Amino acid sequence: MSADISQSQPGASEFRNPNLEVLIPTDKLQERIRQMGQQIAHDYAGRRPELICVLKGAMVFLSDLMRAIDLNLSIDYIAVSSYGKGTKSSGEVKIIKDLDEPLQGRDIILVEDILDTGLTLSYLVNSFRARGATSIRIATLLNKPERRKVDVHADYVGFDIPDEFVVGYGLDYAERYRNLPFIGVVKG
Ligand code: IMP
Ligand code: MG
Repeated sequence: MSADISQSQPGASEFRNPNLEVLIPTDKLQERIRQMGQQIAHDYAGRRPELICVLKGAMVFLSDLMRAIDLNLSIDYIAVSSYGKGTKSSGEVKIIKDLDEPLQGRDIILVEDILDTGLTLSYLVNSFRARGATSIRIATLLNKPERRKVDVHADYVGFDIPDEFVVGYGLDYAERYRNLPFIGVVKG
């Protein structure tokens, strides 16, 4: 697999790119995210959770998920880097953009695109705990259980997927494909 950052041919469809295989279609994603939102609304009834979106990948998921949670809630963003431009985890987590609001006393739901080795989320959970959050749960759209290196428990999981590199619905390969309305696998 090589990163194709060249311009598309005029008129070429990105969504029907022949190098992509659909793994999870749009309707399945939306239906599952709706269920997750209802579950969260039920679990947090009477509370005011703060959804923290891990940029950039989780932005599409957050945008669907928050609209499926019928509660008084707030959102914030954090940007971390653990991957560079390739497909292998460096194991290093760096905060690129920190939260705007303090965590003290808040019920936090960390919203992630994919739980892979677990390095990113385990770092964030520990750091948020140290900053005084009352509770921290994880909502991840995708989970690759086979890849786990550190023990992280996700409370809300959209889909368990096999150990394949996936793109779309916010997830990128070298910054490409975030805009795909489905989860796909890059072939070849
Ligand atoms: P972890 O720290 O290894 O759990 O990695 C989590 C981050 O790695 C995610 O937020 C993604 O940005 C990236 N990542 C892991 N697997 C994939 C994949 O299959 N496609 C795209 N990005 C991935
Ligand atoms: Mg990424």
